[in-house]
Amino acid sequence: MKVSPAIAQTARIAAAIDKLASFTEADRPYTRLVFSPEFDAARNWLADAFAAAGLVCHIDSGGNLIGTRTVNLERANLKMSDEGRADRAKVLIGSHIDTVPAGGRFDGIAGVIAALEVVHYLNEHQIELPFDLEIVDYLGEELNVWGTSCLGSRHMAGLLTPEILGRVDVDGRQLASEITRIGGNNLGCDEVRSDADQILACLELHIEQAKLLEIQSHDIGIVTAIPGIYRYGISVKGQAGHSGTTPMDDRQDALVAAADIILAINGLASDIARDENQHFVATIGKIEVFPNGAAIVPGQVEMTLDMRSASTHSKSAFLAAFETICRDSAARRHCAVDVRPLAAADIAPMDSGLMQNLSDAAAVNGLSTIKLASGAGHDTAHLSRFAPAAIIFIPCSDGLSHCPEEFTSNEAIAKGAWVLTSCVLALAGKPLQAVVQR
Ligand code: GLV
Ligand code: MN
Ligand code: MN
Repeated sequence: MKVSPAIAQTARIAAAIDKLASFTEADRPYTRLVFSPEFDAARNWLADAFAAAGLVCHIDSGGNLIGTRTVNLERANLKMSDEGRADRAKVLIGSHIDTVPAGGRFDGIAGVIAALEVVHYLNEHQIELPFDLEIVDYLGEELNVWGTSCLGSRHMAGLLTPEILGRVDVDGRQLASEITRIGGNNLGCDEVRSDADQILACLELHIEQAKLLEIQSHDIGIVTAIPGIYRYGISVKGQAGHSGTTPMDDRQDALVAAADIILAINGLASDIARDENQHFVATIGKIEVFPNGAAIVPGQVEMTLDMRSASTHSKSAFLAAFETICRDSAARRHCAVDVRPLAAADIAPMDSGLMQNLSDAAAVNGLSTIKLASGAGHDTAHLSRFAPAAIIFIPCSDGLSHCPEEFTSNEAIAKGAWVLTSCVLALAGKPLQAVVQR
């Protein structure tokens, strides 16, 4: 019996997702931290999958894995520049394969596999594009122990500063050395990708990580903007002491001061979100207590604040109160506090022309769309700082993400891949066309 192309495609997506998801810490699914052995193994598998699809693979200076479907210059009627560089346009499609600790099965890899589906379609239909198509696994999108997310896309945008690259984790691993170990070289970190002016479009598919598409029964979300994301390290210093002999009114308990700070920040963020009626969230999700003994008054706390804002006004309102909250809470508990910025990424509006292209591509494939703003950060935010960029969302169950319960269907990934494919064909100057053959 002949299997329909749509069913064959869904099966191929299912196999690829299963395989990539299998690269995880065995006792903590799904954990594929950037630079971990699981990450390295997944990258090797992906490089082989890229090569099997006919892509020419390389790792760029920022450690991004790129598979290129190179334009045939002669057939595309293009010429080499004097420097021997092909003077041609490029389109990038990609996402990431790393995860947060105990994260989800689809965050990141759905977008990489959907990007690869575009290549499969072009190969199966022997379609030449008038531009290079780069399929990208952007390095380390998730927040890592060095306090910075989106390593690869920040690098492309020239935003990985020497200060960030020089950071060392508790095991003595320097970020720059890790990037070198996996094939990057850290050069040109303050410069935008040199061929940025040749990039026609950067596209990404991602699971929504919220409930709107599911609740409203839409296939595709056309993202309007990615919020600003700001992270701060907060150190609270008190005095460690004997839990049995230190009187309650003579303590410098750093954990109690930290608890006050966490509650106050939660209240402040809730007030701003309500008053401004804009997407605004602030979270302290990482906290370390020293010395962390049940019979010791905590002497020190290290925590990370992650704040996201869809408006510059909300961000300013938060920052105006944030440091005072930290200082006052610490002083009340006779502790000292130090706040330091770890990373910042301003709000990134998506390219309106590409949003329209993606919307048209969905419509021609019979898929319904809504426009929506992203709550999460994505590599596309950084790409949008030097090239036209846009991202589509596909539905996921119950809005759950960054947890093992995260789920989307292989059919939803396939639909997203149709949108990307039709969009790429339109960018290539071909008539807008449906790509699914049911
Ligand atoms: C990326 O997953 C983020 O933290 O938004
Ligand atoms: Mn994520
Ligand atoms: Mn992601």
